[in-house]
Amino acid sequence: MAADSDRRIALITGGAGAIGVATARRLARDGILPVLADRDEAALDAAVPALRTETGMPVLGIHADLADRAAPAAVMARVESVFGRLDCLVNNAGLSRARRIGAVELDDWDAVMAVNLTAPMLLAQESLRFWQRLRGGSIVNIASRVWLSGAGPAYTASKAGLVGLTRSLAVQLGPLGVTVNAVAPSYLGSAFNFSGGAAAIRRAEAEHIRLGVLDRIGTPEDVAGAIAFLCSPDARFVTGEVIHVCGGAQLAARPQDSAIADGSAR
Ligand SMILES: NC(=O)c1ccc[n+]([C@@H]2O[C@H](COP(=O)([O-])OP(=O)(O)OC[C@H]3O[C@@H](n4cnc5c(N)ncnc54)[C@H](O)[C@@H]3O)[C@@H](O)[C@H]2O)c1
Repeated sequence: MAADSDRRIALITGGAGAIGVATARRLARDGILPVLADRDEAALDAAVPALRTETGMPVLGIHADLADRAAPAAVMARVESVFGRLDCLVNNAGLSRARRIGAVELDDWDAVMAVNLTAPMLLAQESLRFWQRLRGGSIVNIASRVWLSGAGPAYTASKAGLVGLTRSLAVQLGPLGVTVNAVAPSYLGSAFNFSGGAAAIRRAEAEHIRLGVLDRIGTPEDVAGAIAFLCSPDARFVTGEVIHVCGGAQLAARPQDSAIADGSAR
């Protein structure tokens, strides 16, 4: 599979999932060729041909379990051999285990850290060869608003760690012209949520959203839009940031907020 050497290439991990496919579609619209890495072979087999037809691009799927420490090197070697370049790395693959602290099992903790935190670090390390050659690029890490608000211990710690990794890489890769940012969505009601988008959770999420006019919760396309911005030349001077794609749900509610909104308090 050959690609013209000027075309920008994006590697999207968890590429066959909801945010992954929406991002692939959105980046393709900006002329960036998406490469999808995912452990779910059946989902890849469905997503890749559909994206090829839709975008007219030679979209590539790579089957990889990123919990395996050898996988990031193998994925990057494949990108190198097929395209010879990488312009955007979107660390999107994620795993959630919502448990009370008393029930946390170390195997679960390790599994979450392996996918959500160790794989992004290893992929960033493996991508150095491209940045050193191209002198520029972007890394976008998909965190979650739980890094602020808290949820299950492993998931929250992994996403807060990912924000820390984002800031560290922004400092270390800045001299190479690489921007490193995080996008933090909140509940989207997609398959990722173990609750499967239960109506009660959807309602509770909607209540925390400050953008009243839209009357909906977030979508994978909302997240993809922020990722596309961070991969675009418009964001070339933006690094080390966290963009919350939450409709304002990351702004913690205060009891007096409703009074302020109706003008009866300041
Ligand atoms: N959906 C939400 O409500 C939500 C909210 C906040 C943050 N996020 C974050 O967004 C990211 C993507 O979520 P999504 O909604 O698209 O979920 P999704 O379940 O639709 O997609 C996740 C994808 O990651 C893949 N994946 C999981 N473990 C992997 C591994 N070990 N190796 C390779 N691929 C692996 C899955 O196969 C799946 O295709 C995750 O990092 C998640 O933490 C999601």
